[in-house]
Amino acid sequence: MQTEPLPGCATQDKLATYPPNCIPTPTFTNSEQALFTQGKVLFNNNCEPCHNPGAVVIVGPGLKGILDRRSIDWLASWVQNSQKVIASGDLYAVKLYNKYGKTTMQSFGLTTSEIKAVLFYVGNYGSKEVVCIDSLSTSENTRD
Ligand code: HEC
Repeated sequence: MQTEPLPGCATQDKLATYPPNCIPTPTFTNSEQALFTQGKVLFNNNCEPCHNPGAVVIVGPGLKGILDRRSIDWLASWVQNSQKVIASGDLYAVKLYNKYGKTTMQSFGLTTSEIKAVLFYVGNYGSKEVVCIDSLSTSENTRD
């Protein structure tokens, strides 16, 4: 299991370089954009029937803020085999499973890096390009 931070966390450093009239929201490098797109495709193909990347509950909980609730290692184990995490007696997993009416989330044959891409997408879902508030060319480009 890998424990390094998600690639997107590096954007915090870049934000320091924007002028103070800009709202510091994430902007992506090309490789981050590629990761976001990869994550979006994987999310739409595998997770969307049951999850919203924002806060809306569908079959399972909205995944907004998931990186504040759980570690990458936990999330990788969960996505690869949620039943195994529940069976291990993990309290968070057991509580969640009971809360969602014991609906089973199936196992996914995704690699850790694919899961990281999904999490990068979820973590940046709805974030905006950098917006300079007193600039005439204000542009907002909501990511969805
Ligand atoms: C068949 C529906 C279904 C699919 C498809 C599904 N999930 Fe889930 N997921 C659930 C349910 C239901 C829960 C709540 C726990 C439980 O009942 O096992 C859950 C819980 C979770 C949680 C914990 C959320 C929290 O708030 O702690 C994460 C993270 C998660 N799923 C990620 C994913 C990802 C990533 C995918 C796609 C690769 C995915 N799920 C696909 C149904 C699904």
